[in-house]
Amino acid sequence: MDQQSSKKVVLITGASRGIGAETAILLGKRGFRVVVNYASSRERADKVVEEIRNYGGEAMAIQADVRNPEEVHRMVEKVLSVWGSIDSMVNNASMSFVQKSFLEMTWEEFSQKLNDEMISAFTVTKSVLPSMIKKQYGRIVHVASGLAKTPAPGMIAHGSAKASLVQFAKYVAQEVGEHGITVNVISPGLVDTEASSDQPQAFRDTIASLTPMKRIASAEDIAKAIAMYADDDCQFITGAYIPVNGGIDMN
Ligand SMILES: NC(=O)c1ccc[n+]([C@@H]2O[C@H](COP(=O)([O-])OP(=O)(O)OC[C@H]3O[C@@H](n4cnc5c(N)ncnc54)[C@H](OP(=O)(O)O)[C@@H]3O)[C@@H](O)[C@H]2O)c1
Repeated sequence: MDQQSSKKVVLITGASRGIGAETAILLGKRGFRVVVNYASSRERADKVVEEIRNYGGEAMAIQADVRNPEEVHRMVEKVLSVWGSIDSMVNNASMSFVQKSFLEMTWEEFSQKLNDEMISAFTVTKSVLPSMIKKQYGRIVHVASGLAKTPAPGMIAHGSAKASLVQFAKYVAQEVGEHGITVNVISPGLVDTEASSDQPQAFRDTIASLTPMKRIASAEDIAKAIAMYADDDCQFITGAYIPVNGGIDMN
């Protein structure tokens, strides 16, 4: 095998900013060919690609709404036609949700988050598995949230959706392990990204003070944990739930 064809390919959903962008840059630096998926932030996705290329890495940006099976299929087909395989997939794209108490929430609001979280996880996983099974190798990493296990006020839609994602990952892990494919869940606490920018400073300070490591996470903190499971450092770990939260929640 020549140097080029031995390079691994990682597809990261929602990699134009936040945790996904940091993961893309880190894995690009580590020699992966990186697919920077995005929904609408084309310029930001292009900047991530440019940063990876600037230090000699390989990357391409592909627009696809991960809730749309046809768009996901098209994205995966494009990657396979250019680079031949998808070795690792990080299901990271952030699905919006309504923050409300259960008593105030409608079924439409609740089911929107559940549906978006699960259709994206289901569709992207289904699309990458055939090429991984063919190669008898794969690394799948889902990005959940500590709210999947520990409730917080107003977070019932998000927490319930992420809890479904955690269990989904375990079911897929037990089914595809025989093909050399691992499926794991990285579960961040509060991370300093645009998705959390609506949280008041006082709340962020409180979380930091309650955290044994005395700060909230950066996107890089989460990217480093994802990278371990997207590569071979954890090659015999599958179906695992990994909290990455500075110790604020040790469950
Ligand atoms: N931030 C936190 O405190 C925190 C805590 C726990 C878990 N998480 C989880 O971590 C993951 C990443 O969150 P983040 O904070 O990095 O989010 P973020 O900074 O808001 O970035 C969201 C990313 O998702 C993409 N995206 C959104 N909808 C999409 C769609 N339908 N199809 C494809 N891409 C889509 C965005 O693309 P565009 O730029 O094109 O819109 C963007 O690249 C999420 O799963 C989130 O639930 C975050």
